[in-house]
Amino acid sequence: MFTSTCVRVELPAGHAPLLGTDPLDSFKLDGRQQQLAHVRTIDVTGQPFTRALQVTTTTAPDSEGSAQLIAPTSAAVKAGDVVMIRFWLRCQESMTGEGFTTFAFQQNHPEFNPAAEIQVSANSKWREVDVPFKAGHDYPAGQARLVFRVGFDRQTIEIAGLEVSNLGTTTKLESLPRTRITYAGREADAPWRKEALARIDKIRKGDLTVTVTDSTGHPVPDANVHVVLKRHEFGFGSCVTADLLTGTTPDAEHYRQIVQSYFNLAVFENDMKWPAVYDGVPPKVDQALNWLLERHIEVRGHNLLWPGGVWLPPQIKPMLDHPSQLREVIANHITNTVRHFRGKLTQWDVVNEPYKNHVLIDKLGKSVMIDWFNLAHEADPNCQLFLNEYGIVDGGANDAEHQGNFYGWIKYLKDNGAPINGVGIQSHFGSVLTDPAKILKVFDRFSEFGFPMESTELSINLDDRQLQAEYMRDYMIAAFSHPNIHGIMLWGFWEKRHWRPQGALYNTDWTIRPIGQAWIDLVHKQWQTDAQLVTDSKGSQAVRGFCGDYEVTVTYSGKSKTVLAHLPHQGTN
Ligand code: XIL
Repeated sequence: MFTSTCVRVELPAGHAPLLGTDPLDSFKLDGRQQQLAHVRTIDVTGQPFTRALQVTTTTAPDSEGSAQLIAPTSAAVKAGDVVMIRFWLRCQESMTGEGFTTFAFQQNHPEFNPAAEIQVSANSKWREVDVPFKAGHDYPAGQARLVFRVGFDRQTIEIAGLEVSNLGTTTKLESLPRTRITYAGREADAPWRKEALARIDKIRKGDLTVTVTDSTGHPVPDANVHVVLKRHEFGFGSCVTADLLTGTTPDAEHYRQIVQSYFNLAVFENDMKWPAVYDGVPPKVDQALNWLLERHIEVRGHNLLWPGGVWLPPQIKPMLDHPSQLREVIANHITNTVRHFRGKLTQWDVVNEPYKNHVLIDKLGKSVMIDWFNLAHEADPNCQLFLNEYGIVDGGANDAEHQGNFYGWIKYLKDNGAPINGVGIQSHFGSVLTDPAKILKVFDRFSEFGFPMESTELSINLDDRQLQAEYMRDYMIAAFSHPNIHGIMLWGFWEKRHWRPQGALYNTDWTIRPIGQAWIDLVHKQWQTDAQLVTDSKGSQAVRGFCGDYEVTVTYSGKSKTVLAHLPHQGTN
């Protein structure tokens, strides 16, 4: 959600423009990997502007600044001047429906801190972005630049209605509209959060009773008992890469350290996708998988089919118009891949994002999806089979068509007896942050089918670290409080290996960001059970703890004994 302090304010008259007559014409592509972006001018109708810059980024550059649009100023800005920048943004196309840019006003020299900087995103609707600032020092004409960084993963965005004015020293900065990013339900006493925390207490815990007896079976009073939750029943995980799980660099070691300390669930980011296993599963993927399983980290499979153009192996392109060959090659892929990992993965995303990626379905007919689920089921009958989709809770959760399509697919599969038994909800957020109360409603809607659900891909791509951390906390509280959500999977945790590096929990140098701290504070502090008990006269003591696997250590007259126990919601003795 964006809030502007006012709605569309006319800028004060007599201001000095800082770019030529049509500011859009002043921009050109720049950056080390500018070849990954293309820009063109398009016509726009029905808006306060008639032209837009359309910028397509074809593959993710190394960093957002590796592909950018820049325009040098054509007039001076003096220290103390108030500058107002306004532009409109929308996303034409991206993997999540949301497209990004980071706007900056900065000295014509990469070493200077920008005077203003904001990362924003938009969906398919035009969004106004207002960025006022007061110049800290002089910027002679041509010595400052406006920058739109576009080095994000594949997307097409449009920028229009750009106004850049130097308002001098008579306009007060505070009087100008400013785009602030926040979300409804963020306030400390938000009712949804209070209810969610109460629900967590009710549904995610059980009573653990410990009774200590001696070798003759008599109760032992006054024994010290240490009860520690070792593994949550709920899944808390991240996507990972085989390269880093098997790598030998210090970074790879650090990466593994974090995986085994903080996650009980994992998924491979790209290593199990069809193009990656087309010629068979590379040995390092098996090696990485075994490493995870040895550490009791549950692994889900992602994905068997991502049935749209660029995500399919290039080898199958020539088969697209040969239905029987296409059917066969898909069937073999599903059977071989699921069989290969049989018994090791608990879930498979059989189909990923069918709303936007449906080439194979268009070619083979709707019912082919049922066949795919059946094939996966035959190859590993114990694996839970999921349909996974984006645009359900993310991007404001107001894309009724996208949600309706997903609902329709699940219903179709269920009604037609396909062995689907899981609903995967991706959650890639930019600066359109969905109200947690609304997320809970969407979770309710998709629970109607009776299938367990998982938050399969969580990323929060924001440069406001505080906001990012708070949204992480609230998203997690919402998801953990929903009875039908079984796990939360991060889509990456390290800046250097993250599809939207701004969303990572750890910086490149492994220092933790507030968003990472938010994760640890919840999973390893607030939602951790670690209790010291003393048995009563009947040799018993009870504690209410989070469901999962426990280590219970009894110490009495200098001797200790540790036993393992599982605590389900119904409680255990
Ligand atoms: C992304 C990966 O993170 C990138 O490295 C890759 O270039 C493209 O795919 N939805 C999904 C994931 O289901 O598989 C995508 O992962 C992110 C969006």
